[in-house]
Amino acid sequence: MKPVIALTKGRLEKQFIQFFEQMDYDIAPLKDKGRKLRIETEQFSFFFAKGPDVATYVENGIADLGVIGGDILYEHQPDVYNLFPLPFGQCRMALATKKDYQWPDQKKRIASTFTNITKDYFKNKGESVDIIKLEGSVELAPILGLADGIVDIVETGTTLKENGLVVVDEFLDFSARLIANRSSLKLKRKSLTPVIETMKKGAYSRD
Ligand code: PRP
Repeated sequence: MKPVIALTKGRLEKQFIQFFEQMDYDIAPLKDKGRKLRIETEQFSFFFAKGPDVATYVENGIADLGVIGGDILYEHQPDVYNLFPLPFGQCRMALATKKDYQWPDQKKRIASTFTNITKDYFKNKGESVDIIKLEGSVELAPILGLADGIVDIVETGTTLKENGLVVVDEFLDFSARLIANRSSLKLKRKSLTPVIETMKKGAYSRD
């Protein structure tokens, strides 16, 4: 049975393809996938999903391996093997708000996709805030007056800058990670070990 690998759609997908391309695998079908969500290569079965769903598919053994942002893993804490960091998808978690914003004296409203991380961050500071869960484009929330600030990942800083927001505090660093289903690692060890080792070598030879 070919290893089944779940890939996170979007930015990480492109960076993974660039990374995987440097190894001796035929990944032409991945580069040319169009809107297809499942791709078969000679050696692997790939499928594409949103980050939190990659964790769910790996946890439930639908995928043997997954490529996922460290931010998503930290937020959702799925029951998977967190194998090692991959050399792409570097980002950090930040609290941000509008430039020159005067924070209110009363309870702050913080918008985020990462509600657990936000909760922990303010708990550690001993501060009680109202958390507003959004699914994306969280930078809109302070601009439109839904929230006083946001907790979100910052990669290049362009999205904040182009929307007139500034970082107030940065507090966690992440990169993409390779994860594995717990049973797959035992039951499919023979077919998974070569690709895991190849990726590990690829990841560490760049340092
Ligand atoms: C992420 C994140 C920020 C942006 C940061 O969003 O939520 O909006 O990237 O990247 P930058 O610092 O390089 O500008 P993504 O593009 O994944 O989409 P989303 O807003 O729908 O979450």
